[in-house]
Amino acid sequence: MQIDPKDYDSRRLYHLLMSCVTPRPIAWVSTVSREGVRNLAPFSYFNAVTSKPPLLSIAVGRRRGKRKDTAANASSTRELVVNIVTEPLLDKMVETSAEVGPEVDEIATAGLTVIESVVVKPPRIAEAPIQLECRTREIFEISPGIVDLVIAEVVMFHVSDELPIDEELHIPAASLRPVARLGASDYAFLGEIQRRDRPAK
Ligand SMILES: Cc1cc2nc3c(=O)[nH]c(=O)nc-3n(C[C@H](O)[C@H](O)[C@H](O)COP(=O)(O)O)c2cc1C
Repeated sequence: MQIDPKDYDSRRLYHLLMSCVTPRPIAWVSTVSREGVRNLAPFSYFNAVTSKPPLLSIAVGRRRGKRKDTAANASSTRELVVNIVTEPLLDKMVETSAEVGPEVDEIATAGLTVIESVVVKPPRIAEAPIQLECRTREIFEISPGIVDLVIAEVVMFHVSDELPIDEELHIPAASLRPVARLGASDYAFLGEIQRRDRPAK
């Protein structure tokens, strides 16, 4: 089957792309508005871009042309925290994806605990074993009126003392237990982990 994107509406293309590019990591993003209201929401159009400087990308769709709170806050305050979602946090993470107004603090409604960040104003989610304090490096309408792409620079990494981390800064995924987003409303936990070293030159 060949599928030409020109022939399909955005809803179907969303379903298709979500099913093809899978599994995806989830950024659970905390921000604070200019008025001081905290915000938390998950994003799976998310990935690492490069390591030095450590850059992340997050694509935030618009609602009827209007920026979602996360993109609005990341643009106006230039600060955000990416919290990593692990197995015990799956249900709370989904709860914070409810489409609510900017006056709602999803951290409070989900009953999560916050820890102050060291460099930026948005708080870290204590329940997440990895929290990445970030500054907005770039934000631009990659699809005009439809999607904003945020490029965020990690300015401080926080790794729970419960996680083993070696001198080379490896953290075993089997200890972290991250959640992955699949297509539709499906999620996955890690299965069997296979190791392959790259061939020597
Ligand atoms: C696992 C998961 C991943 C999501 N990924 C994205 C995404 O990549 N981009 C996006 O615009 N919305 C995504 N959403 C929907 C947002 O979380 C939702 O629109 C949320 O209400 C945005 O909140 P905000 O207005 O507080 O920023 C995702 C939802 C879930 C549950």
